[in-house]
Amino acid sequence: MRRIAIACEKGGVGKTSLAVGLACGLAQLGHRVLVMDTDNQAAATRWLGREHMPGLTRSFAGNLPLERLVQTTCAERVEIIPASTSLATLERSLYGIPHAVTFLGQAIDELDQERWDYLICDTPPSLGIIVNAVLTAVQELIVPVEARPMGLAGLSRILSTAGRTQRRLNHSLCEARLVISRANHTDVSRSVEAQVRKRYGARVFSTAIPERISIARSSGLGIPVSVQEPKGLVAKIYRKLAREVRAIETVSRTGSPPMRSPTATGLT
Ligand SMILES: Nc1ncnc2c1ncn2[C@@H]1O[C@H](COP(=O)(O)OP(=O)(O)O)[C@@H](O)[C@H]1O
Ligand SMILES: [Mg+2]
Repeated sequence: MRRIAIACEKGGVGKTSLAVGLACGLAQLGHRVLVMDTDNQAAATRWLGREHMPGLTRSFAGNLPLERLVQTTCAERVEIIPASTSLATLERSLYGIPHAVTFLGQAIDELDQERWDYLICDTPPSLGIIVNAVLTAVQELIVPVEARPMGLAGLSRILSTAGRTQRRLNHSLCEARLVISRANHTDVSRSVEAQVRKRYGARVFSTAIPERISIARSSGLGIPVSVQEPKGLVAKIYRKLAREVRAIETVSRTGSPPMRSPTATGLT
């Protein structure tokens, strides 16, 4: 099971839409995906047709196996560990407990690694203990960069936080990759995208997520665009991104064998 975090300190940059869209894209390629929603706002949970559920906070503290929290979603092959409202006070409850940021990684190690091909962790817009615990637990980080004038603003802090986590706590965390999000045809959007690609080169996925009203609308409906219109343009874009993600070579932290072949879904 590959473990991927979607993170950026800035809110509204497209973390949750990326987590949900990528999960659905991978699932449409035939992979089994587990989404973990670590943001107490529960946007990913609701987008996948579920509601807040108690429990995840206890798993962060090492007191509840994650397996017990897994729920099905409205998307085939996508399951979710829903957000719990008490994630808002997690910082306080773990304060002063030694090695608290490592508990989540241990809880993920205890999941059945053969049951899912990917774990996608959506995170809150902060750089507190939740994001630190997630970065300590995963191998990969994807940061959405909004194609807007301030798009690059939140980037340096998440990249330096990830670098620090990699050096101190998680040597298997790979260099972060970036996805351009909410791209449109304006000069500003094009110029930000060009700057990001020039500066970060191959670390930027060639697939950019466009600004689409269907994405904005679907967030409130509790059903991802890829489920509403599996053959539509947005679903196709997420599958293209999913193929790029799939193509990345990674060394599994748990040393688990390579993933089995995905189930054919007939979608291109
Ligand atoms: N590509 C997009 N096209 C149109 N609207 C989008 C797109 N991505 C995100 N949005 C809108 O912006 C809001 C914030 O995006 P979201 O993914 O929740 O950001 P974050 O998780 O970083 O706070 C979403 O509710 C959605 O309505
Ligand atoms: Mg979000």
